[in-house]
Amino acid sequence: MSNSFLTLINLGISLLFILSLRGLAFPRTAYRSNLLGILGICLALTLALILGKHRFLILLGIVIGTAIGIFIAQHLQMTGLPQTVAAFNGLGGLAAFLVACCAVLEDKIDPFDTPIGSALGIFTFIGSFVAFAKLQGRINGTFKCFSNRLNALLCVIMILSLIDYALHPNTTEFITLSVLAGVLSLSMTLKIGGADMPIVISLLNAASGIDSAVIGFVLSNQLLIITGALIGMSGAILSFIMCRAMNRSLINVLFSPVTSPSITISTDISQPIKTGTPPEAAFLLENARKAIIVPGYGMAVSQAQHALKQMAKILQEKYHVDVKFAIHPVAGRMPGHMNVLLAEADVPFENIFSLNDINNEFPSADVAYVIGANDITNPLAKTDNTSPLYGMPILDVALAKTVLVVKRSLATGYSGIDNPLFYADNTIMLFGDAQKVTAEIVKALEH
Ligand code: TAP
Repeated sequence: MSNSFLTLINLGISLLFILSLRGLAFPRTAYRSNLLGILGICLALTLALILGKHRFLILLGIVIGTAIGIFIAQHLQMTGLPQTVAAFNGLGGLAAFLVACCAVLEDKIDPFDTPIGSALGIFTFIGSFVAFAKLQGRINGTFKCFSNRLNALLCVIMILSLIDYALHPNTTEFITLSVLAGVLSLSMTLKIGGADMPIVISLLNAASGIDSAVIGFVLSNQLLIITGALIGMSGAILSFIMCRAMNRSLINVLFSPVTSPSITISTDISQPIKTGTPPEAAFLLENARKAIIVPGYGMAVSQAQHALKQMAKILQEKYHVDVKFAIHPVAGRMPGHMNVLLAEADVPFENIFSLNDINNEFPSADVAYVIGANDITNPLAKTDNTSPLYGMPILDVALAKTVLVVKRSLATGYSGIDNPLFYADNTIMLFGDAQKVTAEIVKALEH
């Protein structure tokens, strides 16, 4: 195959990946974009089979990888998605590390790309598996391995090792660099709380992309360079978006982790709260002209999306209520968490609105149905400049005529901050599991 023809094919495949990434940003085009991405991967694998030296081994890898992928996809719970992404990132890092090791073993000495590829690879691998273990509940809490200063010292030693390797490439320096990267990764990720892990995962995703691009240079593989750069950039942009939506800086997440708060029960029981029952909530909802549903992490935990869809359908079809879903950018525990769950329950896309598009509609809503959401509705984010939530945009549910809040207790959410919304005059608390409460409302609406 001529070089220019190969470049043309690589360009075509890269274009498929770019189109796929672009379309994944919108629920309406996400499915088709996924297919474009799959087509790109299939073409890339076919190319590897045609051009590769060890075709049998490549085929074996594809068959085993596909079987494992299908098994995971069929058995994965939606709530397990973040840790699965972490594990996949880790495997990408491990692959890059192994390629770098092979390059060194084959004496393909490259002053920069090989050691950088190996260090980033092992960094991504170890960091991702710590993230996986934390989100899976295998490692609990945070651990302080080294101080930030010691970590900074490790970075300096790594840079010196890299320069030394570039001047006199040798295996000892290569091993030293890889071990230091592993220790640094362990030290940095172990002290980050489980709740901040989604940002760390997206950063590690960026690292695995950049690593693939570096390894692309080692192997002189154009496609790897382009796809690596695409993954690297998407991961970096996603991390930035998440930090902005949570009103935190990346430095703050990485170096001043204050997260993984234990769930604390609100101690301020002196303020009265109003409680209601599902039939009372059904009465309010069926008599509303406009209702806005605000899902949060609790909806994911209780898998209430199907009952919620049913509730919205009855309200629209039987009671002619204008029902809309409001999605906060960081509702749940990963980007798009709520969108994925609502899509799974077949909630029509045209009923789902982002924070910016719906926030000014709360004053005209008769009911805001807040289901398993807490921090994303906390008014302190606007009023209390000492609160960790201060500055985070919130859904202005308190402006609706009546706010129905479904949760099991007065416990705080991810941020560990009490929510004054629960004590507001127009708020009615519906205590219970989100799915059970919504199913009971559906039953009341049906009759
Ligand atoms: P949270 O503030 O975490 O609140 C979730 C609430 O759900 C809890 O207060 C809990 O109260 C309730 N809950 C849990 N299980 C439930 C169940 N089975 N039935 C009913 N309620 C249940 O969630 P949120 O409002 O979605 O906000 C997300 C938070 O996560 C933000 O602070 C955000 O910054 C953070 N975060 C988000 C991301 C991304 S990318 N989405 C990443 C990292 C961190 P009870 O225990 O009383 O039921």
